[in-house]
Amino acid sequence: MENQKKVMVSGIQPSGDLHLGNYLGPLHHWPEMIAEFDCYFFMADLHTITVRQDPAALRKRTLTQLAQYIACGLDPEKCVLFVQSHVPAHTQLGWVLDCYTMFGELSRMTQFKDKSARNADNINAGLFTYPSLMAADILLYQPDFVPVGEDQKQHVEICRDIAERFNGVYGDVFKVPQPYIAKVGARIMGLSAPESKMSKSVPEGCVFLMEKPEDIMRKFKRAVTDSDTENPVRYDPKAKPGVSNLIQIYAAATGKPFAEIEAEFAGKGYGAFKPVVGEAVVECLRPIREETERLLADKAYLETVWRAGAERAEYVAMKTLRKVYKKVGFLAR
Ligand code: TYM
Repeated sequence: MENQKKVMVSGIQPSGDLHLGNYLGPLHHWPEMIAEFDCYFFMADLHTITVRQDPAALRKRTLTQLAQYIACGLDPEKCVLFVQSHVPAHTQLGWVLDCYTMFGELSRMTQFKDKSARNADNINAGLFTYPSLMAADILLYQPDFVPVGEDQKQHVEICRDIAERFNGVYGDVFKVPQPYIAKVGARIMGLSAPESKMSKSVPEGCVFLMEKPEDIMRKFKRAVTDSDTENPVRYDPKAKPGVSNLIQIYAAATGKPFAEIEAEFAGKGYGAFKPVVGEAVVECLRPIREETERLLADKAYLETVWRAGAERAEYVAMKTLRKVYKKVGFLAR
């Protein structure tokens, strides 16, 4: 065997500033994985243009996201960090997989339905075929696992279906990966509307990684809860979505189990609970923000990281792409 270590791959779109959902869902768990797995983490910039972007802002967010990956503990010596558009094999395999992905299955994707409802004036073909590009992002690296939040599970499942369909025709070309979803933090809800996931599209309920501590505290103090006064700090996502979300955030930020949190706040009200959660988040994000700022001041270093990352990613990606091209019958150059 050429490589005994299991492989992981994942990406985040630099379509907005990274938020607590991105962090506590997948990103927070990635640093512990780099010791055990061969990891590929990228800025999914190709995906962002399915929605209109301001070019200068997109470039800046891509760079900031790279600095944030490193600041979160992704040591570029120990894993591969790269920008998706720097590795053309993603779009090349994406096209091939488009031809093995069915119109019907793409039509069922929840994210397509949501995004096309929100951007009714720009329902472009890229938004529709996005899952086959995401399948290419994954399958190029032959991973065992794809660590994502709950909302991306459907896209990893369609990736498995595409891989199985392709393998069914051409033999074992792709490894069929599993989604890897953390138990705590997989679905962080918005602070202002806890029935929907935390997302940059609702900024008042969304905590950004680079936000100032006082703004974070304000958002937590205003977090929507309920009118329960008996024993309010209880984990019950159906009856108490706001409080359960805060418990989940506190648990993810501090590593405390739910039961310990309930005991810590037994008999106390939201006035005591909400600022403690806010402070835990501020403390958890502080070193990341400071390190990101430090790294952003050293663009030359970041450039060495993204260049080396692209080379390492491309080497692996091209091996898979060559195999695919051969299988489908393209004449070698
Ligand atoms: P994206 O950019 O929307 O989100 C990045 C990651 O953050 C997770 N996430 C959340 N987790 C918990 N609670 C939330 N509120 C929350 N919001 C977002 C997402 O599940 C995701 O893991 N299509 C992907 C990006 C992508 C990708 C890939 C991922 C492109 N190619 C290949 C894995 C493998 C996306 O739009 O995620």
